[in-house]
Amino acid sequence: MQVKKAIIPAAGLGTRFLPATKAMPKEMLPIVDKPTIQYIVEEAIASGIEDIIIVTGKGKRSIEDHFDHAFELEATLREKGKMDMLDSVLQTSKVEIHYIRQKQPLGLGHAIWSARKFIGDEPFAVLLGDDIVQNDEPCLEQLMNQFEQTGNSVIGVQQVPSKETHRYGIIDPISVDGKLIAVDRFVEKPEAGTAPSNYAIMGRYILTPEIFDFLGEHTLGAGGEIQLTDAIQKLNEVQPVYAYEFDGHRFDVGEKYGFIETTIEFALQRPELRDQLLELFERKLQESYTNKK
Ligand code: G1P
Repeated sequence: MQVKKAIIPAAGLGTRFLPATKAMPKEMLPIVDKPTIQYIVEEAIASGIEDIIIVTGKGKRSIEDHFDHAFELEATLREKGKMDMLDSVLQTSKVEIHYIRQKQPLGLGHAIWSARKFIGDEPFAVLLGDDIVQNDEPCLEQLMNQFEQTGNSVIGVQQVPSKETHRYGIIDPISVDGKLIAVDRFVEKPEAGTAPSNYAIMGRYILTPEIFDFLGEHTLGAGGEIQLTDAIQKLNEVQPVYAYEFDGHRFDVGEKYGFIETTIEFALQRPELRDQLLELFERKLQESYTNKK
């Protein structure tokens, strides 16, 4: 069975970016000139996903507006002949997106469970908005290919330094033979020094619908929240769940340093910004050398 549907959870409070996120969803914070959630939606579509459901919460209306038509703006841009801008605005309203609200902030597992009726009895994808992945072959498509070959759930992982394992869902691999990894255990945010490996879950999942049986148990895990990773572990006990070390550069836009780093990296990829930025960096480096002397 092919994966056609994807869930993008976007109900989080975005406390790491306060006060910016007091009245604005963190998913709308831009990397250069595109909201982070648009990068995620574009990856899903480039991977062949046909239906997207975004799980939202209070104060997330602007996400819906962003992926809708903006008639006045479109008419004004058309009148002024600003066709490039018009194109970029029209792109975002072409996608068919569904919305559902998570009524209580009970964690990622609960957000996914909220979308169960939209998914029904099909395998589906989950993409987390804090992780942007750049690669010629989209990250999600790589996982979808693995799903087609194995017929089982596949979770995207990459290796992280040992000092960072406590921030992620971590896998305990049975054996590592290339990129597809059979997994003994999935552990959400293991305490420092206790991680069973360095392979961290990076916000991309292909899941079979049986996951909803376990999410429906509403068991609280790390941080007192209903964790997707815990349900994946339970699923893994009744049917194999694989991990796949995907290709691509993963950017963490869920915390300040990562957000700034991503902004710089993406700005440097823009020909109209690159030279000016490099000049700025050179000047700043010179200044810091001079100050140290
Ligand atoms: C979530 C998941 C975690 C995963 C991480 C990737 O955690 O629960 O398993 O490793 O995303 O970004 P969060 O960062 O939302 O706390």
